[in-house]
Amino acid sequence: MKHTIWIVLCLLAPGCVSKKEEQKAQLKNEKKWWKEAIVYQIYPRSFKDSNGDGVGDLRGIIEKLDYVKSLGVTAVWLNPIYSSPNADNGYDVSDYRNIMAEFGSMEDFDELLRKMHERDLKLIIDIVVNHSSDEHEWFKQSRSSRNNPYRNYYHWWPAEKGKPNYRYSLFDETGDAWKYDERTNAYYLHYFAAKQPDLNWENPKLRQEVYAFMRFWADKGVDGFRLDAFQFAAKDTTFPAFPLGFEKDFVKYYAMQGNLHEYLKEMNREVFSKYDVMSVAEGAGNTMEDAHNLVDADRNELNMAYAFEGVDIAKSTGYDLVHFKKVFSKWDSAFAEKGWVSIFLANHDQARMVSRFASDAPEFRAASAKLLNTFILSMRGTPYCYYGDELGMTNPGFEKIEDYRDIQALNMYKKTQNSGGDVNAYLKELKFSSRDNGRTPMQWDSGQNAGFTSATPWLAVNSNYNLINAAAQDDDAASVLNHFRRLTELRNKKDVLVYGKYTLLLKDHPQVYAYTRVLDDKKVLVLLNFSGSDSSVSLDEFDSVSDVLINNYTELELDGRTVRLKPYQAAMLTFE
Ligand code: GLC
Ligand code: CA
Repeated sequence: MKHTIWIVLCLLAPGCVSKKEEQKAQLKNEKKWWKEAIVYQIYPRSFKDSNGDGVGDLRGIIEKLDYVKSLGVTAVWLNPIYSSPNADNGYDVSDYRNIMAEFGSMEDFDELLRKMHERDLKLIIDIVVNHSSDEHEWFKQSRSSRNNPYRNYYHWWPAEKGKPNYRYSLFDETGDAWKYDERTNAYYLHYFAAKQPDLNWENPKLRQEVYAFMRFWADKGVDGFRLDAFQFAAKDTTFPAFPLGFEKDFVKYYAMQGNLHEYLKEMNREVFSKYDVMSVAEGAGNTMEDAHNLVDADRNELNMAYAFEGVDIAKSTGYDLVHFKKVFSKWDSAFAEKGWVSIFLANHDQARMVSRFASDAPEFRAASAKLLNTFILSMRGTPYCYYGDELGMTNPGFEKIEDYRDIQALNMYKKTQNSGGDVNAYLKELKFSSRDNGRTPMQWDSGQNAGFTSATPWLAVNSNYNLINAAAQDDDAASVLNHFRRLTELRNKKDVLVYGKYTLLLKDHPQVYAYTRVLDDKKVLVLLNFSGSDSSVSLDEFDSVSDVLINNYTELELDGRTVRLKPYQAAMLTFE
């Protein structure tokens, strides 16, 4: 009804309809630096140790900024660098306005930011506020007495009311997210580890504290925020019972609850709107509608979220490429007109992409890594590239629980043990999917500890560092590294790779992922053979191909309208 009235009004005002259409079109392809960015994610603990204690640090990153710049990336996302007792490698913050002692000092941070900006690199920091560390001053106060002014910064359940309804903890060795605290005879909530108590977002004072420290970092000049686990932040504080077994599907119960959108709008008003910063949330809710509500420009919440559906496809038993194509195409089409997506296949919570999504076998590893990088850098959406993936780093193949450092791996091992589960099966699963697979030290060269540290590294270096390292690849024009650089150069140069419409071709082809990107008169065809054998594809498009933009083999066998792709071959073609 409203719509009709609007049209009538517009008919009275000539030019009105076309203006509206114009605005719509503008909004669709509205240019933003964060859409054009290529984000490089650095896990600071594992990047470069500058002072010989086995742990990566800020000065290590400073030392390597020329390398980062040489990759052609335009922004860096740093995992948390704040003071932390490191129960979860910095995702347990004890002071949001200070730098973790192991990583350096605030002076180091200021220098890092300055030197990044000198090189035209943006910096995105990680904001971890679903929870803090139990060693944060707020929590120390909060747990000290029931009437402490900080009591309501966290979720407490007085024990005289009985046990609260079960909540599942992702990292707890018992699985229970309620932890009894003797001091005040009450339980506190922790969706993650017991040392990560959940903050009470329903308390406006807590929210203002968070916005204030976000402004503290924005005032320093950081260019963006990644909101850790934020989809879980709002809660129904009556803590109703969830159905038995809900933990198998916990995101459905934990994500996008209560007033989450109100909090994001408030955060936008209080922080984002005051600076030229980008914002991205971890998690995109349960439905496309949730995702849109988070990121559509007219919502005034976030710029982007990253959804897990794509990255979750890979299993130790393999995965179905047709399904993979379907998922990425579905996300693209849902955001073709409105909103924006993130493209990634790996991060610090995932095993190495080449081991999960392609092949890390010696004969295929390099081609596989180039293929996956081609995919990430040719899709519509902001690409997030994880450190080491530009070299094709692989899973280390840890065999024993003693090899692991990640609290999730260690506690889930204990949980398996305590519940009489099959620990060997668990170890096998860890070898494929553990987060530590993606956290082994950066492989700089073939020297001691891959040039990462002169001491014993906090997590073992992958034994293949002699074969896979930045120094060796730097000198080799055909390396994964130099291929990555050519890809970023193309993406930075060609608007069609950023804004062009995506169309899936050959949707049922079991081995080849093919799609076009089109912007005005520019057209690019991407061909990716996700298999270890030759695969042929026939397309009318081949008639008018004018150039091969990039290819991970020296040749492309084009015969009329048929291309025969080699194992893990990846190419981008362009048209007159
Ligand atoms: C996010 C982080 C992960 C961390 C968890 C708890 O999922 O990416 O590394 O363990 O939140 O903060
Ligand atoms: Ca160090």
